[in-house]
Amino acid sequence: MNDKNEKVVENFKPELVIHSPGRINFIGEHTDYNNGFVMPTAIDKKIVFSFKRNNSDTDCSIYSATYDKMLTIDLENVTPSDKEWENYILGVLNEISKITRKVKGFDCIIESQLPIGAGISSSAALECGLAYGLNEIFNLGLSKIDIVALSQRAEHTYVGTKCGIMDQFSSVMSEDKKVILLDCKSQEHRFVDASFDPYKILLLNTNVSHNLASSEYNTRREECEEVVKIVSSSYPQIKSLRGITKNMLDEFKNELTDTLYQRAHYVIEENGRVLQASESLDNGDLVQFGKLMYQSHRGLQHQYKVSCPELDFLVDFSEDYDGIIGSRMMGGGFGGCTINLIHPDSIDEYLTKVKKAYKNKFDIELTSFITVPSKGTSIQA
Ligand code: GLA
Repeated sequence: MNDKNEKVVENFKPELVIHSPGRINFIGEHTDYNNGFVMPTAIDKKIVFSFKRNNSDTDCSIYSATYDKMLTIDLENVTPSDKEWENYILGVLNEISKITRKVKGFDCIIESQLPIGAGISSSAALECGLAYGLNEIFNLGLSKIDIVALSQRAEHTYVGTKCGIMDQFSSVMSEDKKVILLDCKSQEHRFVDASFDPYKILLLNTNVSHNLASSEYNTRREECEEVVKIVSSSYPQIKSLRGITKNMLDEFKNELTDTLYQRAHYVIEENGRVLQASESLDNGDLVQFGKLMYQSHRGLQHQYKVSCPELDFLVDFSEDYDGIIGSRMMGGGFGGCTINLIHPDSIDEYLTKVKKAYKNKFDIELTSFITVPSKGTSIQA
């Protein structure tokens, strides 16, 4: 840390500390922006924000411990930056300024426990934690769902990823020991008990983050919108893939390229899998739940094509292993983590084997952690 930054951090007396968690998603990938179903929850790893007002009208200093960089902002002049992490912050300030002018000068220190590019949504944690903290210290009167929505818009406008609602929703709304079954169309949601007993949730981080990720993400979204456009020319009531059944899609098979057909087919099937998975959880049928996770991965790999060799290797490796009942890539894809349901007796042995095999194959260190469903963004007690 440089001397100037060290001095700021050392003397910092926060008036508010916010914990903003990352998230996992058990099933329902690339369904959120298609108005479909997802099953995420927040985790016990988080970004910690320390806030204080500084009595100025418009001057803000935000220190990122991850980058050891200080970002200074004039609230009267918020514009996009060429640094991605800054745009999450600037985007949130810009969105809040469209709603209220109550934010005044503040200082903030951000310390993250979330690996970047790991598919556990450090970006939503950053956006939502900032918005949540500012809402508290300046009494902005925003509801939790306002915070979710403005954080999502910040990502669209300042970062340029046309993300769905899942990450921000789970970062803010999650409850301890539960997963959320979220209908992204109506935003109706149900908290489902998620002990997964005796299984543990193991994340394996490929430690790759292919730079295709954000451009391909937006391309997938456009492909889905293209299918909707074609189908709605005959069915004007159809506004998203959510409303399209497999039979309806088949009617248009000759008008769609194979790529478009595969994308839509995947989304229709994945929405069905989420609903089946929630039933399996309700019935305590974890083996069936795990099977659906594998099916989800194969759809993402072959139909939606957002996986990568490193993720596929990890899922393949787990499939022959008795102690693991479900495994899949998680998040936008092209790198990041797999999520695995593993028996506790198998963890040590499996990790030794898979880390060695992964290193041999890709010459990359595989990292791992066990996590638990945890509560969403909150004020430090
Ligand atoms: C990213 C996006 C989410 C969601 C996932 C894929 O994490 O931010 O909105 O689309 O990818 O399921």
